[in-house]
Amino acid sequence: MPQQAAALQDLNGIDNSTAAEPRNRARQRTSFGGASRPATHTVEQGLTAQPFCKNVRAITRPVPTNVHAARSRTTTEEVMLKEKMQQAINAQINEETFSSYLYLSMAAYFESKNLLGFANWMKVQAQEELVHVMKFYGFVNDRGGQVKLAAIAGPETEWANSLAAFEAALKHEQHISECIHQLVDLARELKDHPTENFLQWFVAEQVEEEASADAIVQRLKLVGNDGAGLFMVDRELAARIFVMPAATAE
Ligand SMILES: [Fe+2]
Ligand SMILES: [Fe+2]
Repeated sequence: MPQQAAALQDLNGIDNSTAAEPRNRARQRTSFGGASRPATHTVEQGLTAQPFCKNVRAITRPVPTNVHAARSRTTTEEVMLKEKMQQAINAQINEETFSSYLYLSMAAYFESKNLLGFANWMKVQAQEELVHVMKFYGFVNDRGGQVKLAAIAGPETEWANSLAAFEAALKHEQHISECIHQLVDLARELKDHPTENFLQWFVAEQVEEEASADAIVQRLKLVGNDGAGLFMVDRELAARIFVMPAATAE
């Protein structure tokens, strides 16, 4: 995924020397989704899943030299991602990629209006969404699953005004929150504890995502049609910089 990795680094276009090091370091780790898996990976056949945790150690299998060779962990049925969960996460990867695409489209809209602070905020948001994509990507691979990418829908390109664009962003984040909550519900239904635990980062992240979009919506409502007020908000949003989330950078 060289283009996405490059986008992570280059999308913002702001020289952020403090964030550059962890971003680069994390990119090395996340570009191919955490621990790398050889292209020859295959799912071993002919083993019966055991229903109880106490039996998991008993079904450990010899690991072929070309599979998980770079990993030291034992391969068990327990670490395999269930097909239903994998499909749902792959669908979420599509949602997160679309999110990035949508915010980049909003950035382009604001650039065309010469509102460069708003555009900056959206470009940083687009970068963050790619981080979300790569977190899911890495998790699927770490669980022995396969990421399957699908076509990304085209986002809108025009909004009535700045407020309408940020209201659309807030609405989109509320939709993403609902998607994440449905993933948690599915993980619980499947008793997939690792996935449920993994998703908690996103549950917390979505609270922040909705709050930050809503804060700008409220500010723009206060400003109304006041050009000076809009200029002030634009200048404020110009200060946002991309920072790799700690849980991802480490
Ligand atoms: Fe996201
Ligand atoms: Fe988001």
